[in-house]
Amino acid sequence: MLPPWSDADPLLAAAAERFGTPAYVYLTDRIEQRADRLAQDFGRWFRLSYAVKANPNPALLGWLRGRVPLLDVSSIGEVRRALAAGWPAGDLSFTGPAKRPAELAEALAVGVGDIVLESLDEALALNDLASAAGQVARVLVHLSPDRVPKGFGDHMAGRPSPFGIDVEEAEAVLPQIAALPHLHLAGLHIYSGTQSLKPEAILENWRIFLAQFRQFCTLIGLAPERLVFGSGLGIPHHAGDQPLDTAAIAAAIAPDLDALRAEPAFARTDLVLELGRHLVGEAGVFLTRVLRVKPSRGARVVLCDGGMNAHLAATGQFGMVLRRNYLMHRVGGGEGAEKVDLHGPLCTSIDRLAAGVDLPPLAPGDLIAIYPSGAYGPTASPQGFISHPHPREVLVEGGQMQDVTPGA
Ligand SMILES: Cc1ncc(COP(=O)(O)O)c(C=O)c1O
Repeated sequence: MLPPWSDADPLLAAAAERFGTPAYVYLTDRIEQRADRLAQDFGRWFRLSYAVKANPNPALLGWLRGRVPLLDVSSIGEVRRALAAGWPAGDLSFTGPAKRPAELAEALAVGVGDIVLESLDEALALNDLASAAGQVARVLVHLSPDRVPKGFGDHMAGRPSPFGIDVEEAEAVLPQIAALPHLHLAGLHIYSGTQSLKPEAILENWRIFLAQFRQFCTLIGLAPERLVFGSGLGIPHHAGDQPLDTAAIAAAIAPDLDALRAEPAFARTDLVLELGRHLVGEAGVFLTRVLRVKPSRGARVVLCDGGMNAHLAATGQFGMVLRRNYLMHRVGGGEGAEKVDLHGPLCTSIDRLAAGVDLPPLAPGDLIAIYPSGAYGPTASPQGFISHPHPREVLVEGGQMQDVTPGA
């Protein structure tokens, strides 16, 4: 279990004082604890691949180098960020449902380890590019299962979907990809659901992956070098959410993974667990300062210096079906509680960080900490809208704070 955020109040207050608000603060100790936990629970089978989209902060990517073995990138921009942070191109896998030809060509030219194909068209285009460059590209094929169990925040398969090759088509398509002379088919990839806090759904999903990996590897006679499992591991965002017990999940999936390993075709396969938010999400907090408190028609409306422009997800606009308040507290605590609505600085009523949340009585200058905010934060927010300053990003390593705002 990670410690409560209120334990970090002196540090959060100091970060806000020194770097200004709104600000994101990322604590590397918390990522380290989470990575250790995952290694303990899943290290017997899986290596981790960190999905850069969750948090592409350049300093964070640099810090992760040597601590996580692989990166998943989903645009050429993320490829460039990873390389600039010192990652070897060979440790990257490049997913994305609509890669442009120029992105494929650049990925090939810089030596991205695995290009994850999401369609036959993409395979044909990459084969042509590799042929023209006199190369053979190592590829994985992203399969889109026909079923995703209930219990994920986002269901990315099991219905019409832009992602991957539908398994209903895979029997016809996979042999064609395997036969392309400038592609080396190294394995398969599935990412069909994110943000689940339901162990049974996660387990059932991985069992679907296992069945489909087996079925399609057998079909094309592939002893895969790599199989990528999209983790779907979620994190608690709201009061009452229960954190996942990953040790219990590992114990429950152990017989299935051990059975796979026992089969000759999979004995040497590099099994990869791909994840973003579960690794970094709970390591970050968003700090916003109260500018004004407005009593309005019986409610107390609190206006803060950062809202949806800086943290879209906390306002419930980033794929949340039912808007619920993120976890939050007043930095420094305080006596008593009153119900308030927390708004950002934008001239739109959807810029609402919390509705009817209980906080100690607030006054201008107070600092609010909102979490989990280490994933899908600044780069998943419309920072340009209404031209407020971009949020600061602060990395804390061993008690040392550093301003790591891109371009700062
Ligand atoms: C291919 C792929 N990998 C990884 C992720 C990361 O998901 P999460 O941050 O929920 O682990 C996603 C999320 O959409 C994805 O599409």
